[in-house]
Amino acid sequence: MTRKQDYFELESLARYYDWQYEGFVEDIPFFVELAKTHGSPVMEVGCGTGRLTIPLAREGIRVVGVDLSRPMLAMARRKTDHEAVEVRERIELVQGDMRDFSLGREFRCVFVPQAAVFHLEGREAMGRSFTNFHRHTEPDGLFLLDVVAPDRLKNQEVGREVMARERVDPDTGLRNREFNEKLYIDPERQVVCCKHSFVIGEGDCERRIEFQQEYRWLEEEEAIALLREAGFQDVQVFGDYERSPFKEDSPRLILLARKDEGNE
Ligand SMILES: C[S@@+](CC[C@H](N)C(=O)[O-])C[C@H]1O[C@@H](n2cnc3c(N)ncnc32)[C@H](O)[C@@H]1O
Repeated sequence: MTRKQDYFELESLARYYDWQYEGFVEDIPFFVELAKTHGSPVMEVGCGTGRLTIPLAREGIRVVGVDLSRPMLAMARRKTDHEAVEVRERIELVQGDMRDFSLGREFRCVFVPQAAVFHLEGREAMGRSFTNFHRHTEPDGLFLLDVVAPDRLKNQEVGREVMARERVDPDTGLRNREFNEKLYIDPERQVVCCKHSFVIGEGDCERRIEFQQEYRWLEEEEAIALLREAGFQDVQVFGDYERSPFKEDSPRLILLARKDEGNE
């Protein structure tokens, strides 16, 4: 099992990330529309392997993707190599920690998609990160945070390994399976600990790669408070990518906010 400090340096995590998210495209039109309406450049925090970064650039949007994980960024770079030159030129990828990176510039839109903030270990780290997002947003610029709704995280079954997906790898011909197991849920710390296991091949040739990771969920009130404390205004809350109002059973918790004009 991997120690937390090694987690973001794992080559295999980047390799399996795209498989975990294969076919997940439902958030892309939402982000494209936001960027087209509010303008670029866009900064995507926790850009991973470029699942969203590349479609944004294909739509003519200039994007700076920031991520802590070097292997994730390396995978994103390999993927951008296959893009047309004008798409490649719209993308910049930077290694950094959302708590304290400094690009020395401001962005028209700052996006933090797919619950990247759940990797942060507590409220203090969240507060520092939100202040950093605000520092990188232009006056009158837009900030968007998209996370899994808290009820989806805290109401899960613990201690049972469930197969999440399987496929035959087109490159190797081997059967790949992903299993997930919730190891524990700690409501006090707002944390769910998940073990992700990738099983490659079968029988005598079977190889198993395991990652363990804590995810700290965000409650609606806490997320709004973090945004306000960081200096954002006009906070709107949605429960899905169709902008339905956030309810207890919503799948997502999506917060849209604005940085004041002339606000530092
Ligand atoms: C669930 S992935 C989302 C990737 C991409 N935005 C997408 O939508 O597919 C979360 C990403 O956040 C990154 N991340 C986690 N902690 C981070 C931190 N402290 N600073 C920057 N990136 C971080 C991880 O390396 C990972 O690539």
